[in-house]
Amino acid sequence: MQKNNALKSKSLLLGITGGIAAYKAAELVRLLVKAGIDVQVVMTSAACQFITPVTMQALSGKPVFIEMWDSSVGNGMPHIELSRNADVILVAPASADFLAKLVQGRADDLLSTLCLARDCPLLVAPAMNKQMWENPATQRNITQLKADGISLLGPDSGEQACGEIGLGRMLEAEALFALVNAHFTPKLLAGKRVLITAGATLEMIDPVRAITNLSSGKMGYAIAQAAADMGAIVTLVSGASALNAPKNVNTIKAESADAMYSAVMSNVLNQDIFISVAAVADYRPVVQHQDKIKKNTSSLTLELTPNKDILAEVASLPNAPFCVGFAAETENLLAYAEAKRKAKKLPLIVANLANDAMGSDENSVTLLDKNGAHPLERAPKTTIAKLLLAHVFSML
Ligand code: CTP
Repeated sequence: MQKNNALKSKSLLLGITGGIAAYKAAELVRLLVKAGIDVQVVMTSAACQFITPVTMQALSGKPVFIEMWDSSVGNGMPHIELSRNADVILVAPASADFLAKLVQGRADDLLSTLCLARDCPLLVAPAMNKQMWENPATQRNITQLKADGISLLGPDSGEQACGEIGLGRMLEAEALFALVNAHFTPKLLAGKRVLITAGATLEMIDPVRAITNLSSGKMGYAIAQAAADMGAIVTLVSGASALNAPKNVNTIKAESADAMYSAVMSNVLNQDIFISVAAVADYRPVVQHQDKIKKNTSSLTLELTPNKDILAEVASLPNAPFCVGFAAETENLLAYAEAKRKAKKLPLIVANLANDAMGSDENSVTLLDKNGAHPLERAPKTTIAKLLLAHVFSML
């Protein structure tokens, strides 16, 4: 885990509500405290059924608040005192019931009152059974929470305490910590060198015709912009794309797979991170005609030859940067993506559905690493870009 001085002297109020994922809050507090964050834990009485305040007190080094009225607090009103002191409130786990209370603006216990009385950002990490998550009532509440400016961290998908498999699991403590890190550190990638490929490649057949694909470059450009905004030194090798070059990014145009390979290889030295978003043609025509092909035959056969796999070559360099691949599939998404991750020896691959992602402003992706699958909620590509970079930072 990277050291991040921006976390020292920050104070975070961690709310824990009643759910089996409350056990993960213990590890989260340990990571937050270790990073130098001042953590004040507030629990609902239901949370105390799952994990004891004594555990949370021992890990945070401070008494835990549960009750609304507490004579040990200066003005006897912890909801005012505690929300004044926090730079951010994180509720993890946030139960379906608690999310509903937030939507309604209820204040019938200390934690909900604190959330209502806050003047700092609120982050929530939902945790519930998949049916509860999918219920239209919960989904309505999620839409409203987002509209109210509350940030959702997760949920994750996978095996649940009830034995079912699906979306609703709370993110792991490490992932939550990475997102808190990103929240406190707008310049999370300060000084890091990041190389990115984006867009479609063009394999010329003759001077006016080419083999290409539907990639718009939006995802790669959004990652380049987000990385630059996070303080990284960014080089973007762009294939065909109609987008304007991102700000504060060294953008190099390279339209064929071969040109992209050369541009990447001459810039890869000393890079910390390589993110291969471009939809690179796997093949190019054996012959590139100097003059326009005339239609003077009844059929035409194009002979193709394979292009070099840029990502695989970068990942196998002796001092390879941290490599992130993208897998755009139309079927068997996770299985195909994980197979590509292993074949190319990548620590991380981003799986997305080609027909859903290509050209769109939004995307829903699953990050695959050695710990398994981490689905990200459907979101604008600009948001996906930040979450991906926060995940990369947590893995560096
Ligand atoms: N990639 C690359 N160079 C290539 C081909 C792909 O760098 N010549 C990168 C892409 O940028 C992406 C990942 O590899 O990060 C995609 O893996 P790949 O197996 O090549 O995907 P597809 O070409 O879509 O494979 P397939 O057609 O077999 O699904």
